[in-house]
Amino acid sequence: MLLEVRDLDVVYGHTHAVRSLSLQVDRGEIVTVLGANGAGKTSLLKALQGTVRPQRGEVRFQGSPVLRQSAAWRVAHGLAMVPEGRQIFVSLTVHENLLMGAYTRRDDPAREIEAIYERFPNLARRRDMPASVLSGGEQQMLAIGRALLSKPVLMMLDEPSLGLSPLLVQALFALLRDLHRDGLSILLVEQNTHMALATAHRAYVLELGRLVLEGDARSLASDPRMTAAYLGSTKRS
Ligand SMILES: Nc1ncnc2c1ncn2[C@@H]1O[C@H](COP(=O)(O)OP(=O)(O)O)[C@@H](O)[C@H]1O
Ligand SMILES: [Mg+2]
Repeated sequence: MLLEVRDLDVVYGHTHAVRSLSLQVDRGEIVTVLGANGAGKTSLLKALQGTVRPQRGEVRFQGSPVLRQSAAWRVAHGLAMVPEGRQIFVSLTVHENLLMGAYTRRDDPAREIEAIYERFPNLARRRDMPASVLSGGEQQMLAIGRALLSKPVLMMLDEPSLGLSPLLVQALFALLRDLHRDGLSILLVEQNTHMALATAHRAYVLELGRLVLEGDARSLASDPRMTAAYLGSTKRS
């Protein structure tokens, strides 16, 4: 088991964002977490990343408990996050953004950054330009490239397809499949249910912080409860 989450609760004041949530990611899996706005998806990822302190629960990554560890420790131990909205530094150059992603590395990151440029030629061509000139799709590539520089074992992505054109969404999911083929395990939060279920091995569906469905992605894609649960929670938000 690569990642094990048990009985996780995230609470903000009067909002119970994540309720007694348990889930797992095995090595080599793509697992997706689905749910409407406000379902608790980002809160879950932030708790795993270490930027939100859960009220209760246990998280083990590669066998080690992580909830008492800093966010930096988690990155250094192979848990990387591509946050919602990309959160790149628009006034820094593409190259400077990538250097920020390499900050946990003790070795010289130059060769690793070149490998990122080989994977993303659009970034290479714009390496000395401010990140603000990048298109939405390129900014998402930069955010993913930056996360890759920490040499992750598990990459968590928070709604990476948000705001991308259908063509770029296809390219993004193709990239995730490539990264998976190269050995990366992936925990993917999405509202694009169709693409996420077509790409992932397993899925969890959250509704108002609670796990309402889980299973094999292929069978959930054609499960009538899936549509009911998902559309039901969309209507309420
Ligand atoms: N920093 C915060 N302070 C207070 N409430 C929050 C905060 N972040 C999220 N929430 C609330 O927690 C719930 C879950 O939010 P979130 O985890 O962002 O869901 P999702 O990512 O699925 O849209 C929502 O009701 C949201 O309004
Ligand atoms: Mg969110």
